[in-house]
Amino acid sequence: MIERSPALPRLLLTRRLPDPLMRQLEAAFAVWTNADDRTLPTADLIAAAARHAAEVLIVMAMDRLDAAVIAALPDSVRIIATYSVGHDHIDLAAARARGIAVLSTPDVLSDAVADMAMLLLLGAARRAREGAALIDARAWTGWSPTQLIGRDVTGGRLGILGMGRIGRAIARRARHGFGMAVHYRNRSRLPPDLEDRAVFHEDMRSFLAISDFLVLAAPATTETRRVLNADAIAALPDGAVVVNVARGSLVDDAALIAALRSGRIAAAGLDVFDNEPALAPDYLAIPTAFLQPHQGSSTIETRMRMGALLLDGIAAVLAGRDAPNRLA
Ligand code: DGY
Repeated sequence: MIERSPALPRLLLTRRLPDPLMRQLEAAFAVWTNADDRTLPTADLIAAAARHAAEVLIVMAMDRLDAAVIAALPDSVRIIATYSVGHDHIDLAAARARGIAVLSTPDVLSDAVADMAMLLLLGAARRAREGAALIDARAWTGWSPTQLIGRDVTGGRLGILGMGRIGRAIARRARHGFGMAVHYRNRSRLPPDLEDRAVFHEDMRSFLAISDFLVLAAPATTETRRVLNADAIAALPDGAVVVNVARGSLVDDAALIAALRSGRIAAAGLDVFDNEPALAPDYLAIPTAFLQPHQGSSTIETRMRMGALLLDGIAAVLAGRDAPNRLA
């Protein structure tokens, strides 16, 4: 633990951030950083917050701040700032009840996550995992007319579940970059300028029926929990390709694994999993599962922007002002 000037606001950081951000944080706050750089058990997080009399907590999507944890935080805590756009790990009502402000990182990572969605779409549809494995195993014997035949992404029909900022960034890439016909499901229909000619489906069945490519980009809520289950998979076109850049809780892993094994789903591109990092081990043995270790926002530019947004929000709240990225 490294103490800085006691006059600076006291901040607890649950994971190391990229170096340039660490330098900015250490100039502006008395920082306690989790030296292990692994997800802190919540009891340790609470104890460290109390020991350090932290006013600000910077946490990650893997830190679970449910009502019990929030109730146990020391009175010194004024702000919980999550280094993520997803905030399903924080009980906002419990934070509000204690007068703790909650900040997140919307907008600044939409492009990076949308890029990841396209990587997964292409990687799954074009069988990138199997191709890389062939090369890595030195088993490639040369070009063949029948080797690893995939599906055309260009011109395909794409269904996007969740047309928020990330969903719309995916739609732009798909439509303008790949000439895809974009369909979507959302809590409500978007105005025409945001819709950009994407087709809204009120009905889940009609949405699934056209989704030769399906991308999950909706927040994790009780409504979206296991939205991709055996029934939904049965409603997709045969040989559909599925991508998840949202949260693992949207997918029923057993159902998706069975559908990948049978070929009912041709391929899946997954960046997020239930119980990360202990993803369902069966995925590892399925060559048509193209897997990434929760990398959606992982570019230096994006991670710096996420930090800048949190720092601005923290400064505003500490100065008694509102912040555009304040959730509670
Ligand atoms: C997010 O920002 O929500 C990403 O999934 C990282 O947690």
